[in-house]
Formats: sequence, C-alpha cells, structure tokens
Amino acid sequence: MSASDHVPERSWSARALAVIPGGASTGSKRADVLYGAEAAAVLPTHMTRAWGCRIETVDGRELVDCTMALGAVAFGYADKQVNAAVIDAISLGNVAALSPRLEVEVAEQIVDVVPCAEQVRFLKSGAEATAAAVKLARAATGRSTVIASGYFGWHDWSNPGVGVPAGAHADVVHVPFDDVVSLRNAVQRAGSDLAAIIVEPLVHQVASRAWLQLARDACDAVGAVLVFDEIKTAFRICTGGVQELLGITPDLTTLGKAMANGFPIAAVVGKRDIMDVARTAWISSTLASETAALAAAQAVIHRHSQVDVCASLARTGNLMQQVVAEALAHTAFRPDGPPVMWRITGGDGAQLDRLVAAAALEGVLLKRGAYQFPSLAHDAPSLETIHHAVARAAEEL
Ligand SMILES: Cc1ncc(COP(=O)(O)O)c(C=O)c1O
Repeated sequence: MSASDHVPERSWSARALAVIPGGASTGSKRADVLYGAEAAAVLPTHMTRAWGCRIETVDGRELVDCTMALGAVAFGYADKQVNAAVIDAISLGNVAALSPRLEVEVAEQIVDVVPCAEQVRFLKSGAEATAAAVKLARAATGRSTVIASGYFGWHDWSNPGVGVPAGAHADVVHVPFDDVVSLRNAVQRAGSDLAAIIVEPLVHQVASRAWLQLARDACDAVGAVLVFDEIKTAFRICTGGVQELLGITPDLTTLGKAMANGFPIAAVVGKRDIMDVARTAWISSTLASETAALAAAQAVIHRHSQVDVCASLARTGNLMQQVVAEALAHTAFRPDGPPVMWRITGGDGAQLDRLVAAAALEGVLLKRGAYQFPSLAHDAPSLETIHHAVARAAEEL
C-alpha cells in the first residue's frame, strides 16, 4: 500500500504541503506564488497531463497555460517529434560509462547557431550554467569581482539571503538593468579586479545597445569576460538569443529552458580560450550528458533549422497580447513587453492577484508579476479561451 492510500480525502495541495516544504520543489509553482496567498487554497495546484498549451488538473479541469513551464516549453507540451526523439534515445540506454555521441552532435549544433559559441559544456539547470560561467571567468582571469544584472538561479554566488555566508557573494556587485551610469560606476570601482560582467540581456524589454556595448567595451578594456545569460532568450527571441538580434557578441553565454522543450538540460558556451579553462576549473555533473535531454535539444535545434520558430512565437505572442489587451480594456492592466515573453502591467498587486485567480477559475493560467510565454501550440481556440477567461476575470474586478 502506498503512502497516498492513507490520505485519500486530503487535497493534493495539503498532501504536497505535508511532504514538500512550500508544497512544490519549483518556487514559481507554489500555489501562493502562482495565485497570491489569499486564493491559493482554492485554485488548481497539480496536474495529471499536459499537452499542447493545455493542462488537465487532478480534479479533471482543463486549463489553457500561458506560462508554459516558466518558458521552458516553446513548442508545446508533449510535442510528438521531441518526445519521439527522447524515446528513441532512452531506448538505447539513457546513460553509460562513456559519453554519448549525442553530446558531440548537440554541441556542434549549438556552435552553429549561437554566435559566441565555439565550445560547449552541458549541465542540468540554469543555476548550474551561470555558476559555471562565473567560475570560468574567474579562473580565466585570476580575478574575483563580478558585476551582475539579472536573475541567475538559486546558487549562493548570486543570491544573498538566509543560509548564504557573506563571503559567497562578497565580490559580486549587482547593478540595475539597462542603467548605463550604474554600470559605468561599478566598472570603475572594480578596476583591474574585474573578472566578469554577467547580464540578462532582456528584462521586460531588450536591453539598450548602449548598455550592452558599454559592458562589451568595459570587459575588453581590462581583459574581463562578458557573459550573457540567455537562458530565457535563446531559442525564443532569436535562435541565437539577443546576441544574434543585436550583433553584440559576449565571451560566454548560458543556455537552457526552450533549448530542449522542457527536458532538463542547460549549457555554458563560448570562446574557446575561456571555455578551455573548464579542463582545470572543476565543473562536472554525473548526468550532464544523459541522452533524454540531449535528444530533446537535438530535435528542438533541428526544428529551428527547418522553420522560423521564433517568428511564429512572436506572431502568436502578438495575438495573445491583442486578445488580452481587448479583455483588459476597461481595467488598469495591459499586456506589455516583447510578444515572445510579455507581462501584465498596471494596476496594483492585490488586484493582479485577483485577476490571475479569477482567470484560473475561468480556465486560463497566467503568471502574476512575471512573463507569459506563447508557444507554437497556442492555436485559435486557445486564444479564444484566453480572451473569454480574461474578460470574465476583468469583469469580476
Ligand atoms: C535568466 C535566468 N538565468 C538562470 C535561471 C535559473 O535557471 P534554473 O531554474 O534552470 O536553475 C533562470 C530561471 O528562471 C533564468 O531565467
């Protein structure tokens, strides 16, 4: 008899809270984070199935998802071609004593499509990839100071807070996104100890060319390493990320999320002389080259070579923004930002919580205070559902 047989009457949310701190291993999937504390108890928390842009909940409701697993899925859930590639790969043995051929093949594909990529190291999560990029930069330069702008995952180097000794991030200076003056001042203070500037090149909007070029020039001037964290942007805004869009090439880049349509893989990629340091700086993970995720990435990158995935995502994101703008016309809210990753802005936080909660009850999952991600699977009927649900939710405000 399994543990679940003893608690049939308890809701999945209560069961989750009993055995998983916060109720979910991914912070953004916690009910209170999804919907706000007030509504969390009555809204869906667990799913039994996900396909296309839809989710079936444990109590049999069907939801249209605008969050697409925090941007990890761009083709749609359970994409047939990606799944077929994964099944083929794992049926040949998911891991073994030797590296799989796929590791080389996917690294070659990435080198072909990401401008700065001359070499690739695979890892499992975005947090690992950014930690690896910072370590490579420090090892390559023999310096400590890192200027950072963005979110880079939960690891200690980038996240001060409970449980993190001050020393872990003592040499990391955070600067605001797209703020030329702050970046210039931070570079000046770092002087010749600057190891790296690591930035997310898109936060709500693509960064200005002036800010990214300043970062490029500052690194060049002192021999520091420029890192673009393109975990959300590569394979979404352009196949090769913001660096392809703007033509400013960093030394290192981190990749993840849409690269494998929801299978767990990330990578640090970049210039050969810096990547080469990975032979001596210790960066290694037991399952880094398991073939399920590599096969998914291979299928994703192959599709990008066949059709313009990013243009389709932008078209669909535009339509999403249009129907949501129409539905929210009489509220303080509006869709904002690039169509491939947009947000709902305006209004106040409590109202937004109520809007998102009401939309969930009407069958549409939106992420409060964060990005909505279109996918190739958002079709006309799902856009109609989004329009209807958001309009009903807006009426309830
Ligand atoms: C820009 C960026 N970097 C790093 C991460 C961390 O990735 P992961 O959650 O896979 O560790 C994220 C996750 O949202 C991200 O958006």
